Amino acid sequence: MAIFPNTDRRTVLAGAGAAALTAGLPDALTSPARRMFPRGFRWGASTAGHQIEGNDTNSDLWLMENLPASTYKERAGDADDSYHRFPDDIALLKAIGLNAYRFSIEWSRIEPDPGAFSLAELDYYKRLIAALRHAGIDPVVTFFHVAAPRWFAEKGGWLNQESPDLFARYCDRAARALGDGIAFACTINEPQVGLTYRTFAPDYFKAQDEKQARVHAEAARRTGSDRFVTMDYPDIKGMTPQLISAHAKSFAAIKAAAPHVPTGVTLNLVDFEPGNAGSPFRALRQAAYGTWMSAAKAHGDFVGVQTYRQVPIPGPGAPLPPLPTMPFVEPKDQGEMIKQPTALRNMVEYAYEQTGKPVFVTENGLETDDDRRRAWYIPQVLAGLNEAIAKGVPVIGYLHWSLLDNFEWAQGFKPKFGLASVDHTTFKRTLKPSAAVYGRIARSNAL
Ligand code: BGC
Repeated sequence: MAIFPNTDRRTVLAGAGAAALTAGLPDALTSPARRMFPRGFRWGASTAGHQIEGNDTNSDLWLMENLPASTYKERAGDADDSYHRFPDDIALLKAIGLNAYRFSIEWSRIEPDPGAFSLAELDYYKRLIAALRHAGIDPVVTFFHVAAPRWFAEKGGWLNQESPDLFARYCDRAARALGDGIAFACTINEPQVGLTYRTFAPDYFKAQDEKQARVHAEAARRTGSDRFVTMDYPDIKGMTPQLISAHAKSFAAIKAAAPHVPTGVTLNLVDFEPGNAGSPFRALRQAAYGTWMSAAKAHGDFVGVQTYRQVPIPGPGAPLPPLPTMPFVEPKDQGEMIKQPTALRNMVEYAYEQTGKPVFVTENGLETDDDRRRAWYIPQVLAGLNEAIAKGVPVIGYLHWSLLDNFEWAQGFKPKFGLASVDHTTFKRTLKPSAAVYGRIARSNAL
C-alpha cells in the first residue's frame, strides 16, 4: 500500500511527502548522503517502571487497578517482569544498536514508608545503571513516572502542600545513591498532560472524571485516608502549583547531589496547529503549555519533549475537532496519526523557541498492532527531527517509546508501542522488524 512503502532511505526520500518535508533546507542537509545527526546524538528507547517492572505492589496505582470499581481494563500484575529481566532488556538495546535507555526508578520501592529508604532497592537500581554503563548505554533516569507510593496518595498526593518537599527528599536520597552512573535525569514525567487535555477539551473528561472520582473515593475509604490522590485525580488544576514547585525543588536536589547530571522535566506536547485562517492555536498552546514552559526555562538543563499527536485548531466559530482517543486504539485515529510525523518537529521547535534550552526527545512512538506502520513511521518522524536540527535547534537525542510492548495504564496491555513484543507467559522478548529499521539509522547516525 502506498502509505507503507519500503522503509529504506531512498524510498523515504522519493516518497510523495519528501519534497514538502525538506523544502527550504540547505542542499547539504537534504542530499540523501548528508542527512546526518549531530555527533554524540543519543539514540535510545524509553520505558517506565510501573509499565514494565511488574508487581509494583506498594504503589498507589496498584491499589487503583485492583479495586472492584477500577477504570483500568486490566491490572499491571507481572507486567513485562523487567524488574527481574533487565539483562534481557539491555540485550535488546544492544541488539538494536542504541546508546541510551530511559527508564524510571520507582519511588514506592525506594521509599516504601515515609522517610524509610530501602538501601536494597537503591542498590537494585545501582546494578541496573552499572549494567547499562557496562553495555555502553547512557542511563536516562526518570524520578517520577505517574506511579507514586501508596502512602503519598493517602496523604493527598500532589494536592498536599508538603508534596514538593516529600518528593525532593526522595530525589535527594536517590540522586546521592545513584548519581554517579546517571547520564541524564528527568524529574517528573508529563506533569501537565491532564491540564493540557482539559484545556483543549474540558468536556471530554467529564464522564471519565466522575468515574475516577468514585474510584478515588473508594480508595480513600479502604485506606482510611481523607482523600486518595493519584496522578489521574481529576483536580489537576489544584495539583499544578505543587507539581511546579516539586519540579523546581527536585531539580535543585538532583543538581546538588549530582551536579554533572543534566536534568530536566519531560512534557507531553500535542501539536496544536492552525486549521485555517484566524486559528487561535497560539493562544491554545499558551494556555496548555505556558506555565510549564516557564518552569522548564527557569529550572532545567534541557526540556524533554514527548509528542504523539497533532490537532488542527479551526478559526473562530468553528467547533474544535474531537480529541483523538488515548492512545490510538481506534483504526481511524491511527490513520490520523500516521499522517502526522511532522508533529514532533513542530513541538521540538516550539519547546526550544519557548525555553531556549536544548531539547531531548524523551518519548515519541506509535501505537499499532501492525509493525509495518512503525517501520514506516520511524524514518518519517526522524526526517522531521532532522529538519529541526538543521534549523539550529540543539537536540540531544531521540528516545523511542517504547522498547517493549507494555502496560498502557487504563488501556492495559492492548495498545502496542514496542520495538519488541513480550510473551506474557514466558516473558520472552522478540524484536519486531521496525527495530531493525531504527537500528540502521541509529548505528549510522544518519537517515
Ligand atoms: C506516557 C507513557 C505512555 C505513552 C504512550 C506518554 O504520555 O509518558 O507512560 O505509555 O505516552 O501512551
